[in-house]
Amino acid sequence: MLDISRFPRVSPAICPTPLEELPRLRKALGCRPRLFAKRDDTTTVGLGGNKNRKLNFVMADALAQGADVIITTAGVQSNHCRQTLAWSRRLGMDCHLVLTGDEPKVRQGNLLIFTIMGADLHFIGENGDAEGVMEQIAEQERRRGRKPYLVPIGASVPLGVLGYVESVMEVAKQAGEAGVQFGHAFLPTGSAGTQAGAEIGAREAYPVMRIHGVSVSRDAAGQKAKVADLVNQTYAFLGIAKTVDAGDIIVHDEYYGGTYGVATQAGIEAIKLVGRTEGLLLDPVYTGKAMSGMIDLLKKGALDDAGAVLFFHTGGSPALFAQAEHFQKP
Ligand SMILES: Cc1ncc(COP(=O)(O)O)c(C=O)c1O
Repeated sequence: MLDISRFPRVSPAICPTPLEELPRLRKALGCRPRLFAKRDDTTTVGLGGNKNRKLNFVMADALAQGADVIITTAGVQSNHCRQTLAWSRRLGMDCHLVLTGDEPKVRQGNLLIFTIMGADLHFIGENGDAEGVMEQIAEQERRRGRKPYLVPIGASVPLGVLGYVESVMEVAKQAGEAGVQFGHAFLPTGSAGTQAGAEIGAREAYPVMRIHGVSVSRDAAGQKAKVADLVNQTYAFLGIAKTVDAGDIIVHDEYYGGTYGVATQAGIEAIKLVGRTEGLLLDPVYTGKAMSGMIDLLKKGALDDAGAVLFFHTGGSPALFAQAEHFQKP
C-alpha cells in the first residue's frame, strides 16, 4: 500500500473529512445506487475546499524553504486564491494574488474575502501573462530582502496532488467502516490536481472505484491529457514505476456549457436540488456542474452497476454570492 506519511504537512487537523450519505437526494432522483458525499468542503481553513488538501503539503514546503511571502494566481473569483491566502495568513506570511480578469466595481464572493484578509491584489486582465507577473513580483520581493514562494495555479503540482491521494485513502477506509463499496466517484476537474490525485489514490488504495472528472474549462481530450500528464509526473515524483495514458482517464465535457465560470441551467437546478434535499451548498462554477453530470448519468441508469456512487464536494460555495442573479426566484 502506498505510504505518503513521509511528506510533511502543515496541519494534520484539516482531515479526515466526513463521508456522508445523501438519502434524500437519492429519493428525489429515484436512482438505484446509494449516494454519498466526501465533504472536502469542510477542510476548515478559509471556508474550506479541495485546495486545502493540496496546500497542506505545498505550504509545508514553503515553510521548509523559509518563505515569508506567497505569490499565486487564478481568476478573480478563485477558491484556490482564497485558501492560499488564508493559509498564508495563518502562517504569518504576506500574499500576492495575480488575478486573471478585471477589477469589478463591487467586491463579492471570494474577492470580498481577499479584501477582508488583506492580500496584495494584481488585476492583469483576461489575457495577462500571469507567470510573468508572478516572476516580476517575486523579483521585487527578493530585492526587498524577502523570501517569496510561488504556488502554481490550483497548487496542481505533484506535492499538491498528494492531497487527493490522501482523500481517496480516507474514502477507502471510511467505505469499509460504513460497509459500502463505491463503483463510481465524481469530481469537478480544472487545473487537474484533484483528479490526478484521486486517480492515483484509487489505483493504489481503492481500485474498484472509477473516477469521473467533470470538466469545467476544456474539452475531454485536452483534460484527459492534462490529468494523465500530472498523474505520470506524480508517479515519477513518488518513485513509482507506473504510467497512465489519456485513454485510461474518464472526463465528461458536456456539462460545463463551453465557458469556464459561466453557470449552466442544469448546474443551477442541481444546486437548488441538493440545497433543498440535503441542505448542502454547491457552487455555479465547479460542484454544481459536476453534480449536474452525476445526476444526468444517474437518471440515464449509466451508474446502476454500482451499489454506491460518491461525490467529492470540493467546496466553492462563496462563488454563489458573486452569481446571486441566478437565484433570485424560487
Ligand atoms: C470548488 C472547486 N472544485 C474543483 C476544482 C478543480 O480542482 P482542480 O483545479 O484540482 O482540477 C476547483 C479548482 O479551483 C475548485 O475551486
